[in-house]
Amino acid sequence: MNPERLLEQEKISYARVSPPCPVFGACGGCSLQDLAYEDQLALKRQRLSRAFAPLDGMPAWELIGLEEPWRYRNKAEFTFGSADGTLTLGYHAARSFWRIVDFEDCLLMPEAAMRATRLVLRLATEAGLSAYHPRTHEGFFRYLLVRASRASGRLLLCLMTAPGPREPIERMAEAIRAQEPAVASCYWGVTARLADIAVPETLTRLWGEELFEERVGPFTVQLHPLSFLQPSLVQAERMYDRLSEAVAGFSDGTGWDLYCGIGLAGFYLARRVRKVYGVDSEPHHLKLAEANAARNGVGNIEFKFGKVETLLMDRRFWLQEAKPDVVVVDPPRAGLHPQALSSLLAARPRRIVYFSCNAQSLVRDLAVLLKSFPRYRLASAQAYDMFPQTNHVETVLVLER
Ligand SMILES: C[S@@+](CC[C@H](N)C(=O)[O-])C[C@H]1O[C@@H](n2cnc3c(N)ncnc32)[C@H](O)[C@@H]1O
Repeated sequence: MNPERLLEQEKISYARVSPPCPVFGACGGCSLQDLAYEDQLALKRQRLSRAFAPLDGMPAWELIGLEEPWRYRNKAEFTFGSADGTLTLGYHAARSFWRIVDFEDCLLMPEAAMRATRLVLRLATEAGLSAYHPRTHEGFFRYLLVRASRASGRLLLCLMTAPGPREPIERMAEAIRAQEPAVASCYWGVTARLADIAVPETLTRLWGEELFEERVGPFTVQLHPLSFLQPSLVQAERMYDRLSEAVAGFSDGTGWDLYCGIGLAGFYLARRVRKVYGVDSEPHHLKLAEANAARNGVGNIEFKFGKVETLLMDRRFWLQEAKPDVVVVDPPRAGLHPQALSSLLAARPRRIVYFSCNAQSLVRDLAVLLKSFPRYRLASAQAYDMFPQTNHVETVLVLER
């Protein structure tokens, strides 16, 4: 069944409310705004129960909602487009690769971030250059990445373009500096990629602070424009607290933080065990992870660069010197590579805490883990509504033996 019909069927048993966003339905960003928030949670709970039904011994899901399900995001990527010759800046339209839905406000982002976004659109329009078209591969302006710090209320902007002139970008950046005091730094990213992915090949800081500071639980971390951070820090803190509870009782033990990003899960883990090893395949994440560990006085964590699936093949190191008692994994949507699963099984930690944003890959990986080593049992299943108004949910599953 096509996804829209499936969604309509899922919504049948709930009363509809009037969606507050004027582009609801047209914009591909939110699809649950026409349900009351409690009903969004009920629907997500139902989906989780259905998706995990094939697993034996699955505990009941606990789904934790957000007290304030609007303006909770700390980051957004907007795409430039064009409508009747006018530049637009927004999200992809539902069911469209090319069409961009333009809007004055996104109710998931802080107001200052949206004010800055509209300013960028006005300045880009005044610059007189066109939007990049992902089919013809012509045009200049591609994306705008906006990060908003909960700690300081300040913004980081990264304007991404196709290769082209620097001068109009510098002029725009200076106008932003003069007109929007909430902006703390301005970056310019250039990408010649044919794929529609907002990851620049070169990144230049035009003005302002190089890194962006954020407070997560007891840690103050610095972020790069492209660093990974969960969209809602309230929910992220709850997930990390859940991790801390799940790995209690191993104060003499060793922990792994696989797919560690800038190291946050590892810092929480490091308060519970004697030694932590963090692994990530992005050098810019690891550089910050190391700096953030030093900054927060986390001395018992060591970071290793590489792909989890290849790095862990060095069994002599990982199964002897670094043999884990507890492991936290937080892979991208695709889930664990078969080789990563096999290394995890060989290590047989006492607890595995699996953070996931994709139920499908999680069910697949858990089925392999439980079948290959039946002494693992699913100890708890928590879900965090990291993305109210949208279809997504973040889950934390604990396995133990
Ligand atoms: C969801 S983020 C993890 C965030 C982190 N755990 C946190 O709490 O902020 C996924 C991370 O996996 C990394 N990654 C993706 N594929 C990888 C691989 N094959 N091996 C190691 N790291 C990988 C990415 O660079 C990214 O930092």
